[in-house]
Amino acid sequence: MVTTLDDTKRNALAVKLANIKAVQQLLIENEQLFLRESTDSEISNRFQDMLNDDQKNLGILDTVIVQYGIHAEPKKSINQVIEQVRGWIQSSELSLYEKVFQHELLKHQQAMTGVLVHKAAQKIGADVMAAIGPLNTINFENRAHQEQLKGILEVLGVRELTGQDADQGIWARVQDAMAAFSGVLGSAVTQTSDKKDMNIQDVIRLDHNKVNILFTELQQSNDPQKIQEYFGQIYKDLSAHAEAEEEVVYPRVRAFYGQDNTQELYDEQGEMKRRLEEIKAISASAPEFKDRVRQLADIVNDHVREEESTLFAAIRNNLSSDQTEELATQFKAAKGRIQERLGGAKTGANV
Ligand SMILES: [Fe+2]
Ligand SMILES: [Fe+2]
Repeated sequence: MVTTLDDTKRNALAVKLANIKAVQQLLIENEQLFLRESTDSEISNRFQDMLNDDQKNLGILDTVIVQYGIHAEPKKSINQVIEQVRGWIQSSELSLYEKVFQHELLKHQQAMTGVLVHKAAQKIGADVMAAIGPLNTINFENRAHQEQLKGILEVLGVRELTGQDADQGIWARVQDAMAAFSGVLGSAVTQTSDKKDMNIQDVIRLDHNKVNILFTELQQSNDPQKIQEYFGQIYKDLSAHAEAEEEVVYPRVRAFYGQDNTQELYDEQGEMKRRLEEIKAISASAPEFKDRVRQLADIVNDHVREEESTLFAAIRNNLSSDQTEELATQFKAAKGRIQERLGGAKTGANV
């Protein structure tokens, strides 16, 4: 029996991630509706940029959830909030100002939940930090969006109340506030400034880093229960990662990476899987357990080095950036399916 790290804290975090994803979908819907209702080109441009960010961030959220490895349903109360806000935004009773006001509250909730997940992950473990890392860029963008929304609200509100334009200089102030954010939070914001999606190399590298951290955490622990849990997570993460590579990546690269090189990757993963099964059969308190895991880690590390050097170089040289992004989407989808089948780690909606 493989136990995994899906204890209460980890499940609670998975529910938060599911909440964030559900809210993200509503944010996108709202912004699409505002674009249809807005008659001000300055405001429309800002909503369009926000929509582009939010659509890209939905993809990043999918990556984070698959990385994290525990799929949960959003909490019931969040679904209720979403239904209520959706009703308001779609109703003809609210003015555009009032709708954007609700949207800003939702953005605020999204930003705060994202920050909370980040802070909680710091307490739960380094592997969780690694899994949710990309969430940071979303959090920073949401904070910047809040500043934009304040500006939009000022323009819309003054116009609705007085029929006149608000004071000039609003957008300059919004720009300053956003600049202050990027000043403080610099590197993370610039990371996403090119607005590109993650490619297959980024997504694979995230998985490699996470499993590497789990190996370290396992070796550092002396608690057999914890060791068993870390191994359980390694087993699930590596199995899903390897199977998704075999389903999506290896068949795609065979033509240019070469028959022999590609076969080698399959063989190495075969060896990895054999060892995973062997270790799974012994007790975490057995004296040889950690040594066996260390040997597995060595094999995994060799394999990872090969993928991140020669395989990634071949991908860079032979696939366009659109193709590597498309491959990342396929990889995430395959891994999500595999995780659900392997773990059945579905968490109830009321955790
Ligand atoms: Fe691999
Ligand atoms: Fe890999």
